[in-house]
Amino acid sequence: MAGGILPGFSAESYRRILGSNDKIRASVMGVNSRGNALAQNFAYQNECDVIHICDVDSRVTDKCTDEIQEIQKSKPLVFKDFRKSLESRDVDLMVIATPDHWHAPAALLSLQAGKHVYLEKPCSHNPNEGEMLVKAAARFEKSIQMGNQRRSWPNVVQAISDLKGGIIGRPYFGKGWYTNNRQSIGIGKEVSVPEGLNWDLWQGPAPRKTYKDNLVHYNWHWFWHWGTGEALNNGTHMIDLLRWGLDVDFPVKVSSNGGRFHYSDDWETPDTQVINLDFKERVSMTWEGRSCNGRTIEGSSVGVEFYGETGSLVISGGNEYKVYDLKNNLVKEVKDTKRN
Ligand SMILES: NC(=O)c1ccc[n+]([C@@H]2O[C@H](COP(=O)([O-])OP(=O)(O)OC[C@H]3O[C@@H](n4cnc5c(N)ncnc54)[C@H](O)[C@@H]3O)[C@@H](O)[C@H]2O)c1
Repeated sequence: MAGGILPGFSAESYRRILGSNDKIRASVMGVNSRGNALAQNFAYQNECDVIHICDVDSRVTDKCTDEIQEIQKSKPLVFKDFRKSLESRDVDLMVIATPDHWHAPAALLSLQAGKHVYLEKPCSHNPNEGEMLVKAAARFEKSIQMGNQRRSWPNVVQAISDLKGGIIGRPYFGKGWYTNNRQSIGIGKEVSVPEGLNWDLWQGPAPRKTYKDNLVHYNWHWFWHWGTGEALNNGTHMIDLLRWGLDVDFPVKVSSNGGRFHYSDDWETPDTQVINLDFKERVSMTWEGRSCNGRTIEGSSVGVEFYGETGSLVISGGNEYKVYDLKNNLVKEVKDTKRN
């Protein structure tokens, strides 16, 4: 009442009545690479303003804020500690693009602070954290979306719709893959933490480790302590498409083989791996990851193929797909019109 708020209305609902919340106001967390691209994407939307940029490394924030200002004509505020941004009532949405060990803790704190969340894949560092996020979104009545962006690509949506409409009969097997020529990360040396990086906040909820020169940025992906390897870095996108297209949820049997074969260095997760998943619906899928041998499959470094009773459907990494009959004849091709 003292603040002019009507009885029975929270500050948040009152702001909505006033119409001052016509735009979604986003805070973006972790902007070295993916977060920078997301911040720009959100800034390009007419219905959205990026009002905060949060990163524990001041070496990356200047570039991002300048780029956002150029797009939306207003400069976001910068925070080293995202919890300061969460204290702001102006933020509606927290966009999280940090290393994986921060995903669930940051998302939980954001939901608790009353923010919606766009969370990069993988949504968590382990499956249990994922379950916690689903429960928290329901408890705090906020939306949470994971960064499986192919779910929103029109030709991929159409491919899955064709699949479910029977274009290759009943699909019963799916294959996904990812190939690259990633270089060795060498053997890390203990060095002083670079000027501008808050190593303590970067580690956040993870048990403490000494800083080494081959971890930040990006290479943390290949350490179990913070990352989840290529299977959840790139495999997660393709397994998502396969589960969507084959209309299945959890597998009844999973097997995997592979390892760190190409180089001998600090990299811990597999650089070469096959994962097989069987489902009770008489459906199987397999994913092949080759981080250090870029030989493509179906002419693409990333993709999925569905095999069915009357043919096959291929979605390569982009917004496009092809359908073949059982005799290998191309019967339908949908190209990404934006790229041509
Ligand atoms: N959907 C996609 O296609 C896609 C593509 C690339 C990356 N990703 C995901 O995005 C995430 C980030 O990947 P990346 O390649 O940009 O990694 P990166 O290491 O290049 O960047 C991570 C950033 O997070 C910052 N950071 C770390 N702790 C933080 C904290 N507590 N608060 C604020 N910032 C913090 C780091 O300083 C860095 O700037 C990963 O989870 C990755 O899987 C998704």
